[in-house]
Amino acid sequence: MIDKSILVKQLFEDTALYLTYDYNLQIRKETLESFTKDISYTSVLDMPCGTGTISLSLLSKTKKLTLIDISTNMLSLAEKNIPASEKQKVICINDDFFKLEIPEESYDLVICLGLLAHVNSPEQLLSKLSKIISPNGYLIIQNTDSMHFYSYLIRFYLGLKRIISKSSYQLNKVEASFLENELNKNGFELKKQFRYNQSFLGFSNLFSNEKKYKLTRSFFGYVEHNKHAKWGSDITYLFKKKSV
Ligand SMILES: C[S@@+](CC[C@H](N)C(=O)[O-])C[C@H]1O[C@@H](n2cnc3c(N)ncnc32)[C@H](O)[C@@H]1O
Repeated sequence: MIDKSILVKQLFEDTALYLTYDYNLQIRKETLESFTKDISYTSVLDMPCGTGTISLSLLSKTKKLTLIDISTNMLSLAEKNIPASEKQKVICINDDFFKLEIPEESYDLVICLGLLAHVNSPEQLLSKLSKIISPNGYLIIQNTDSMHFYSYLIRFYLGLKRIISKSSYQLNKVEASFLENELNKNGFELKKQFRYNQSFLGFSNLFSNEKKYKLTRSFFGYVEHNKHAKWGSDITYLFKKKSV
C-alpha cells in the first residue's frame, strides 16, 4: 500500500497551490469561531494547522495552543502568523501526527480540518483523536461525505484533472455515516454541524475568492442558519466527548 504521508507532505509543501482557495479558509475560520463562541477551553490542538489562520483567532481565549503539520512550509507560514504578544502560548510541531506520542486526554479542544481525505486510515485517525481529548472536551472535524451526490461530481471532475495532469494522487472516500458512527462508538455526541460545498468544479477560475465567498454564503448561509444544508457535501462538525 502507498504511504499517503509521504505524498501528502510533498503536495502541501507547495503552499501557494492550497492558498489559492483562501475563501475556504475564511469560511472554516468563521465556522470555528461560531462553534466555539459559547464553550470554554484551556488546551487546544489544531492538527493539521496549515497556515494557522483558522485557529490563531482562538488565542485570546486559551492558555495553550499546539499547532501540528507535516508540511514544513505550511508550519513556517503558521509560525509567522502568530502574534508576537501570544508566542509563549503556542507550541509548533513539524511532524506526522501518527508518529507523535501524545498522552491521552491532553486537550479539551481539538480541531481537525481537511485531513480525513489524506490519511492512510480514517479509522486510525478518529481513534487517535478520540483518545487525546479529555472527557467533556470538544472535537471540531471536517469531512466531505463521499456518498453525497456532489461528491460524485467532484470525483468525476478530479478524475479528469488527474488524467490531464498525469497525477496519481487520490483523495480518500469517507462516508458521513462512517465518521458519525465511529465517533459515537468512541463516546462522542454530535452538537452542531455546518454544510456547504467547497468546490466550484471547473468553474473556480471564473470567480475571485471574494465572489466565491459571497456565493457560498448567499446559498448556504452561516452556522446559525445553514440554508440548503442538504445540498452541501462538505460537513464541519462539533462533537462533545461524554464524561464517561
Ligand atoms: C487541506 S490542508 C488543511 C489545513 C488546515 N487545517 C485548513 O483547514 O486550512 C491539509 C494539511 O494536512 C497536513 N497533513 C497531512 N497529513 C498529515 C499528518 N499525517 N500529520 C500532520 N499533518 C498532516 C498537510 O501538510 C496540510 O497542511
